[in-house]
Amino acid sequence: MRVVLRLVVVAALACGAATVFTQAQSQAQSQAQSQAQAEREPEEPTVFPDGENRDEVFYICTTCHGSALVRAQGHSRERWSGVLDFMVERHGMPEPSKEDRDMMLDYLAKAFPPKGRGYSNPFLKQ
Ligand code: HEC
Repeated sequence: MRVVLRLVVVAALACGAATVFTQAQSQAQSQAQSQAQAEREPEEPTVFPDGENRDEVFYICTTCHGSALVRAQGHSRERWSGVLDFMVERHGMPEPSKEDRDMMLDYLAKAFPPKGRGYSNPFLKQ
């Protein structure tokens, strides 16, 4: 009788531990899932500063990468033009028409102007 009782207690404890463990595991899983989801959350054009053609430029540039790569930069129109060349030559962006290039440069140069002294983009150094 005693042995049976002990077995029942052990079994109950084991079950309890297993339940706690699986609960913790599934909690960790769902946390990881929602984090991954947040990372994949589509960005809105409003992460870019207001301006003419903001949405167009946003959607063109974020086809391939997050907006942060663009937002981190500040350039003159000429240097933004260099960034566009770089996207075309190195990263497979389709060569934009003259109108599209001007439209993008108008927006980028206004929305992301040079950040002042001390900042330079190593990829665009002459
Ligand atoms: C066809 C795909 C594509 C398009 C469209 C594109 N890019 Fe990129 N871009 C890339 C890739 C690939 C990288 C490298 C990403 C990385 O390093 O993680 C990159 C990197 C960058 C960088 C960082 C470069 C550096 O020197 O650190 C900037 C700035 C940038 N892109 C700006 C733009 C802007 C502005 C546009 C819109 C006019 C644009 N990109 C559109 C593919 C693209």
